[in-house]
Amino acid sequence: MSEQALSRDRVIRTLPLTHWNQPHHDSGALASLEQGNVLFLPHLSFTLMPEELKLLDPALVAPKRKNITFDPQHNRVRGLARQQYAQQVTDLLSRYYQHCLQLIDALLPEYRHAVHSPSNTLRLHPVSTWRSKSSWRKDDSRLHVDAFPSRPIHGERILRIFNNINPHGENREWRVGEPFPVLAQRFMPHLSGYSPLSSWFQQRIGMTKSLRSRYDHMMLQLHDAMKADRKYQEQGPQVTLSLPPGSSWICFADQTPHAAMSGQFMLEQTFLLPVSAMLNPQNSPLAVLEKLMQQPLL
Ligand SMILES: [Fe+2]
Repeated sequence: MSEQALSRDRVIRTLPLTHWNQPHHDSGALASLEQGNVLFLPHLSFTLMPEELKLLDPALVAPKRKNITFDPQHNRVRGLARQQYAQQVTDLLSRYYQHCLQLIDALLPEYRHAVHSPSNTLRLHPVSTWRSKSSWRKDDSRLHVDAFPSRPIHGERILRIFNNINPHGENREWRVGEPFPVLAQRFMPHLSGYSPLSSWFQQRIGMTKSLRSRYDHMMLQLHDAMKADRKYQEQGPQVTLSLPPGSSWICFADQTPHAAMSGQFMLEQTFLLPVSAMLNPQNSPLAVLEKLMQQPLL
């Protein structure tokens, strides 16, 4: 039992889109997304070509890699075990990227010129496989908010668009947690202090691609503190979402507590978004944490 009820309507907003380029004038959708809700598009499917169905095979993922990743700006695929499929995987992930750009144009036009640093993943392993193999810190079946250990983002938002492409009718089961301001307040007393010297050193030895800011440090601490807290995982406020094949969903993964419980075969598109491009920047994790800490975090 959760320690306090969290209603499904509080965390999810369902939208009727059936096409990726279908203009949808609903200013409430953007506001809802920025408040940390999941935008759920149950009728927005992504169609695989018949010849692409053979790509739905976990053997295509390189050993020790969780997913196959694609950088559309450099047309580069990583984590593919069988190079004979490189072109097909590139075509598939490039098409998904283009569809996601269309969706932003149609549903979130305010972000159109602001999203940047796109990357996407083809997720072929069943959630159960990496659940059993991962350390607690990497176990994404524990409620968490996303933070990048090696790639500081200095407050920028992590916008993610998911699609369940399971060909066998299997849902992706998620848990979604409480609003970010409540979460941040809950864990704030448990987060350790920031060391500029450690951050400098981590960059110096190549552990991070740029200097880890106080903000990035706090987000990583929050990510770890949530995952390490077994009682919170079991009893913290949460709801279960069943995300069927043929559906899409969108959230700010740095803000919306989420956990993947089961499912297999998914596409995921990531964009970064500057806080200044938000309709209401006060909803950003950066603003929430700065308010709580009463100091700038960048
Ligand atoms: Fe995540």
